[in-house]
Amino acid sequence: MTTVLLTGGGFIGSQVVRALVERGDKVVVYDVAPDMRRFAGLKEDSLKIVRGDLLDLAYIISTLRENKVEKIVHTAAIGWRAGTHLQPMRTINVNVIGSANIFEAARLTGIKRVVNFSSYWVYGKTQYEPVDEDHPCNPLEGVYNVTKYLAERWGALYYALYGLDVISIRPSAVYGPGQPPGEEPLSILVNAIHGIPTKLPRGRDLRFDPVCVFDVVQGVLKALDVEPDKLEHRVFNIALGKPHTVGEVAEIIKKLIPDAVIEIGPGLVPEWDCATGHISIERARRELGYEPKYQPTEGFKLCIEYEKKGKP
Ligand SMILES: NC(=O)c1ccc[n+]([C@@H]2O[C@H](COP(=O)([O-])OP(=O)(O)OC[C@H]3O[C@@H](n4cnc5c(N)ncnc54)[C@H](O)[C@@H]3O)[C@@H](O)[C@H]2O)c1
Repeated sequence: MTTVLLTGGGFIGSQVVRALVERGDKVVVYDVAPDMRRFAGLKEDSLKIVRGDLLDLAYIISTLRENKVEKIVHTAAIGWRAGTHLQPMRTINVNVIGSANIFEAARLTGIKRVVNFSSYWVYGKTQYEPVDEDHPCNPLEGVYNVTKYLAERWGALYYALYGLDVISIRPSAVYGPGQPPGEEPLSILVNAIHGIPTKLPRGRDLRFDPVCVFDVVQGVLKALDVEPDKLEHRVFNIALGKPHTVGEVAEIIKKLIPDAVIEIGPGLVPEWDCATGHISIERARRELGYEPKYQPTEGFKLCIEYEKKGKP
């Protein structure tokens, strides 16, 4: 049994918490505004929720010490759907200084491993396919994108300078139960499940990589557990590894939810035009033993079932 501190018990973080608790780890969730509904049904003796801000370094350190934390999963961030271009200073503070606080607290308290959530959006516009981890990173499409890259590099610096065992994962477009609305293009699925029409003037031809949250969870657990001497690299794409157009995804959803109203015009969308196309997962396969299990049809079915059962 390991004691893990997980920052950010949101859409993805809460599913990581479930998997950790279910396999017998103790989890301390550190979140500035925890949504308790996401932790419904979990064994209370394996879970502690701490209301805390990433910007409060002293409190992060005392939380790590008090709970004898051994490993960290760092998911907390201001996400793209929060409109980060409208709050650039808050975003750079939380996503970059906040992440730097996690690395510093980990260094000062002797944490064995940090799994840091980066994003495939660090690549910027696709220059070649498949997009592997050596693809250039020039994420100038938005505030969020740059902050994810800066935080990832700060983690790499802490590994190089201090030997802090940081692994960064770059998930692609994540969908799954509990997904909040507003994350394009996968909001089509969330809308369809909730009976909301999707009408977009363009975007049908955009190619992207939809990955199920349970595959991301698998990637996190593998990154948390892998022996350091098995690693040649410390940055990994965690994706499906197979591109789909927005139009194809809409077709799959229409087959599963025939009443869904989905109208998407042809063409691309400049704001979504980063790391599009085929994302390579060969490095994660090789070094972490990661293998995605959910093609979109199976993953979408699971989301619909969870919603029907009211499962978090
Ligand atoms: N959702 C995706 O498709 C996707 C894709 C790639 C990478 N990511 C990354 O995955 C991570 C999790 O994404 P998500 O979709 O679960 O996000 P989310 O918005 O659902 O959850 C983020 C959590 O962080 C918490 N948080 C925000 N600011 C905080 C602060 N100052 N201090 C402490 N907690 C704070 C929020 O309260 C929330 O619970 C993020 O780092 C995101 O950049 C997400």
